[in-house]
Amino acid sequence: MAIQKNKVLLGVTGGIAAYKTPDLVRKLIAKNTEVRAVLTASAEHFVSPLALQAVSGNPVSNDLLDPAAEAAMGHIELAKWADTILIAPATANFIAKLAHGMADDLLSTLCLASSAEVFISPAMNQQMWKAEATQANLAILAKRGATIIPPDSGEQACGDVGQGRMPEPQDLADIITQPKPLQYLAGKKIVITAGPTREAIDPVRYISNHSSGKMGYALANAAIAMGAEVTLVSGPVNIAAPNHAKVVKVESALQMHDAVMENIDSADIFIGCAAVADYRPLEAVNQKIKKNNQELTLTFTKNPDILADVAKQQRSVFTVGFAAETQDVSRYAKDKLQRKQLDMIAANDVSNSDIGFNSEQNALTVFWKEGEKSLEVADKRQLAFNLMQLVSERYKNKHATQ
Ligand code: C5P
Repeated sequence: MAIQKNKVLLGVTGGIAAYKTPDLVRKLIAKNTEVRAVLTASAEHFVSPLALQAVSGNPVSNDLLDPAAEAAMGHIELAKWADTILIAPATANFIAKLAHGMADDLLSTLCLASSAEVFISPAMNQQMWKAEATQANLAILAKRGATIIPPDSGEQACGDVGQGRMPEPQDLADIITQPKPLQYLAGKKIVITAGPTREAIDPVRYISNHSSGKMGYALANAAIAMGAEVTLVSGPVNIAAPNHAKVVKVESALQMHDAVMENIDSADIFIGCAAVADYRPLEAVNQKIKKNNQELTLTFTKNPDILADVAKQQRSVFTVGFAAETQDVSRYAKDKLQRKQLDMIAANDVSNSDIGFNSEQNALTVFWKEGEKSLEVADKRQLAFNLMQLVSERYKNKHATQ
């Protein structure tokens, strides 16, 4: 495991979630870090510098041109002191400033002057989060190496409901202080499918399923953290794109099939985590279907099996499938492993509503030709790490025995 980080510069900008930052400082200190807080002028409307000073045990800086603060620890010195910068909450305005390299206050200047690892915890109104400008600015920052911590969904201070809440202080402290995972997948190219597909019935209607994409996105994040180069082929989901992945967005199973085949040639590992619709309407009707008849009959045709096609056509790619079952999990999963000629299959019991499809947690039983392993119930992010570690072990074993 990597060296424990211990010098966190906490940048607080002016959003309502700033009132949680004294608690965040306490949670960070409990994780063996030293914290120095820097506030923007608008953050002071939501949290007092004195409160942050009291909990951090360090002076709080808020002014680029304060002679007393500069005499104690100049801003360049402070930028060099930090090994981690956490901006929490990060407003849309501050994210825009950072993306464009502005340095018109202490915090933005520090960010420019520091080589520390940067974490950004955006928190804002759900519409501002979704705004194209915000997402483009975040993409710029992610490309530069910053880690964007996706905001939680739920009720917002303004009364809206949606994505834009700062995660709880404990979760942020856990993310910031998480030791870097070992680079089990360094240099490996991995293609992952995630989310549902949508099969058009007519220009305004489609059939789909309840897949949230959480597991596939968690796998992409885990693989990236372990050093892999990831291409994520994603159906329509409501999750922020992982940092540092190539993301190809698709709607239908046919589009997903094409996107996978375009990206699979140089891949080492393929993980089919998407809930691909088994069938699509035979005819894609060009006009909206009218409700003139009492009954409506649609004819469906089978979609290509993306995973089976990769396993068949790309024998050198290590293939991993998922089996969501409601009964006889082990038997169906082993059957799929053999029938689709996979290297590995991860099975979960979707009849249990506490795990699987739309929940935060999952548990898996993983099968391969010579063995199996149970991965206990865990948060999907943790489970993704456990599964990727197992994938890397089996991948190496396959290559060692070839
Ligand atoms: O056969 P079944 O749909 O249960 O298999 C599930 C596995 O196959 C998953 O890994 C899923 O991503 C993949 N799959 C696929 N293309 C399909 C159907 C399933 O890649 N058309």
